[in-house]
Amino acid sequence: MNIFHGTIHKWGLQNCSINENYICLDIGCGGGNAVKAIAEKAIKGKIYGLDHSLEMVNLSRKLNSSLISKGLVEINQGSVSALPYSDSQFDLVTAFETIQFWTNLEKDLKEVKRILKSTGTLIIVNRYPPEDSKWSEFLQLKNAIEYKEKLNSAGFEHVSIDNKSKNGWILVIAKTKNG
Ligand SMILES: C[S@@+](CC[C@H](N)C(=O)[O-])C[C@H]1O[C@@H](n2cnc3c(N)ncnc32)[C@H](O)[C@@H]1O
Repeated sequence: MNIFHGTIHKWGLQNCSINENYICLDIGCGGGNAVKAIAEKAIKGKIYGLDHSLEMVNLSRKLNSSLISKGLVEINQGSVSALPYSDSQFDLVTAFETIQFWTNLEKDLKEVKRILKSTGTLIIVNRYPPEDSKWSEFLQLKNAIEYKEKLNSAGFEHVSIDNKSKNGWILVIAKTKNG
């Protein structure tokens, strides 16, 4: 997983400031690469990784074992549809190459908004092939307008989208409040 999905999270993370005290969640954390990268920035905060696959949870725990033993990282098994976290718990939520698997995007985005602080940020990075590509439909990839519509109706009022600067990829930054 970490070899195949590699380092795309770095692009997303370059585009957001991560305060050292941030409480962060990486949804669909896979092998745990992004959790580790975020933990290097939020050194006084706490990073959670969540994946519905036990295999991925175990991989993520293995990669982040020393951070887990220091209490800086926690990896949980669960679904984005019923996040095992409190309302307004997180400063930053990330979703790297996972959103196309979410079964009810609008409802799931509302669940993400529930656990974000009012000042919090959601970052989505996903593949973005040409819209006439057969892969778009097969992979259920959204276009920029669909992302914005779904996020707005889930309560994210400020949505910025970059589908130009990295060929084949889209970066979405969504906030409930500006700033
Ligand atoms: C393509 S992998 C990406 C993994 C990682 N984010 C990365 O970029 O390397 C997608 C991940 O999302 C997880 N996933 C899919 N649907 C999910 C859901 N509804 N809730 C939580 N995790 C989910 C999968 O188990 C898988 O680990």
